[in-house]
Amino acid sequence: MPTPDRDWNETYRDPQTAPWDTGRPSAQLRLLLESGVVKPCRALDLGCGTGTNVIFLAQQGFEATGVDLSEVAVQRAVEKARVANANANFVCASVLALPDFGEPFEFVFDRGCFHTLAKDQRSAFVGQVLRVTRPGSAYFLLCGNAKEPLDPGPPTVSEEEIRATFSRDLDIEWIREFRFDTAGLPKAPLGYAALMRRR
Ligand SMILES: C[S@@+](CC[C@H](N)C(=O)[O-])C[C@H]1O[C@@H](n2cnc3c(N)ncnc32)[C@H](O)[C@@H]1O
Repeated sequence: MPTPDRDWNETYRDPQTAPWDTGRPSAQLRLLLESGVVKPCRALDLGCGTGTNVIFLAQQGFEATGVDLSEVAVQRAVEKARVANANANFVCASVLALPDFGEPFEFVFDRGCFHTLAKDQRSAFVGQVLRVTRPGSAYFLLCGNAKEPLDPGPPTVSEEEIRATFSRDLDIEWIREFRFDTAGLPKAPLGYAALMRRR
């Protein structure tokens, strides 16, 4: 189930309730960068949480910005970036009403944000992705996989739903299965990783 009404500040105050917040960069993001398909550029992490992947992107030479609804998560992200001496930017905002970031982003990353949205928020989400990107920009989605819902585990999305949501505006280059890294869940949840490019 999506979790649009969740109190994300409350979630981040209790580490037990944020098992995705491992403090380690996403293995899928690392693999994507190692493949050379995405090179350092202006990057936006949607629903960046406490900023681990934004800091990682900044350390890899990206001009990296993270946005999240939770002030608690964003405050932690700012502090983590300060300690890591990383040149990363953070904004507290909804992915459904993004601020004006100026120049478009060439890379948009999303580990676990899209899948929290309600179905009726999906087209607004795509509209926001289009608003902050340009033709050719990449969008890399990591979301829970409806083939294997887990409790406890992330909300899930089917491959058909990914295609139905994005394929009108983005070319889907590939969709692969993977298992999420987590802190403390009994079983690693199955996910979909989807690399898309804006037409
Ligand atoms: C499962 S967590 C993933 C966090 C981070 N991407 C990570 O990998 O650690 C989902 C994140 O999306 C954020 N979020 C949920 N709905 C949002 C919205 N409408 N706008 C911005 N952020 C949102 C939550 O605050 C939370 O940090």
